Order: sequence, then structure tokens, then C-alpha cells
Amino acid sequence: MALRLGDEAPNFTAETTAGPINFHEWLGNGWGVLFSHPKDFTPVCTTELGAVARIADAFQARNVKVLAISVDPLDSHKGWVNDINETQQCTVGYPIIADPERKVATLYDMIHPNALDNMTVRSVFIIGPDKKIKLTLTYPASTGRNFDEILRVVDSLQLTANHQVATPANWKDGEDCIIVPAVKDEEIPSKFPKGHRAVKSYLRYTPQPNK
Ligand code: BEZ
Repeated sequence: MALRLGDEAPNFTAETTAGPINFHEWLGNGWGVLFSHPKDFTPVCTTELGAVARIADAFQARNVKVLAISVDPLDSHKGWVNDINETQQCTVGYPIIADPERKVATLYDMIHPNALDNMTVRSVFIIGPDKKIKLTLTYPASTGRNFDEILRVVDSLQLTANHQVATPANWKDGEDCIIVPAVKDEEIPSKFPKGHRAVKSYLRYTPQPNK
């Protein structure tokens, strides 16, 4: 069955370009992003891996480890990383799982045979410090993902986890947030000292708490 939000992210051991890992141990107490690629030496994937390498500092600043996966073997990954670094003006510093037996791809339901035979689709999983799945995304092979959006979701998830706020449609960093329904009106002054405005009893805005 497909993995759902709130499920525990299945643990696995795998060979990666940075050596063998045990996924849960590698994640430690921080956040994680696991994202799949249909195949090595393909154009869209090459741009995606480069894009993630160029914003690696932004993930690190949020205590997020990133881990890519492609079903090709390790030797292939190593040659491909050279191409990515050469063509995408980056240095890929995060690990890429080699999954030629499709063990991890199958565990995470990344192969959708009616869309792509024997390759993974473009899946993304955001995993919280509790090892629970916080976001799943599935993109077609022909559409490169927007990794700024992944960072935006991480920011939103961390705001909810740390400050009891949600984020409205098209929210961007620095904009007002929404106080989650679990917070009672009488708790607002102490929890949100920057103030709030209630548009409706269920729609209460507050300035972004961590800015
Ligand atoms: C690509 O990464 O460019 C790609 C991979 C598989 C199918 C189509 C495109």
C-alpha cells in the first residue's frame, strides 16, 4: 500500500555515493528529504540534482538532510555526478542511493508501472524528526520539480511544529501565518505576543513568529 502522511518512513539500508547508510540512523534527530529520479544521465534529473546541490546550504540551515535515489548502480552514479557538477555549476555533496534491485523504490512505492516501466517516477518525501512522513509528492518524469517549494513546505512544517501556526495559500517566508485551531482564543496573547487579527472566529492571523 502507498505510504501516507503520518506513516512511519520505512527504514532501510542502502549503498550510496557517500557509503552505506541505515536510513533512520543517517537521519538522526533532524528532518529529511528523500527524492527519486527515473534514471542516471537523463536531462531533467541532471538539472534537478544540480538545483538541489546549489541550495544545499538552505536545507542545512533548516536541519534537513537530503538524499536522492536512482535505480542505477553506484559506478553509474559516480560518473553522472561528475557530469552534474560540470554542467550545473555545483558540487553535489549529498548522497545518492544506488538501488539496482529497486528495494528502496519498491518500499516507497516509487515505481508506477503504468506511467514508467521499471524506472521511478519523481517522488518526494519530507520526513520529520519523529521519522513520520510529513509530505509526499509525485511528479511525472517530464516535469522537473520546484525545490524552492520543498523548502517552503519545510518552513511551513517547522512553523507548525515549533510555533503552532499554519500557513495560508501561496504563503511566502515573512508573511502572516494562521493560528492553528487547537489554540484557544484566551491563549493567544501569551503565545503570540506580536499580536493577531481575527477575520472570523476560525481564521486568526499573526505575524510570522520566528521573524
Ligand atoms: C529526464 O530526467 O529527463 C527523464 C527521465 C525519464 C523519462 C523522461 C525524462
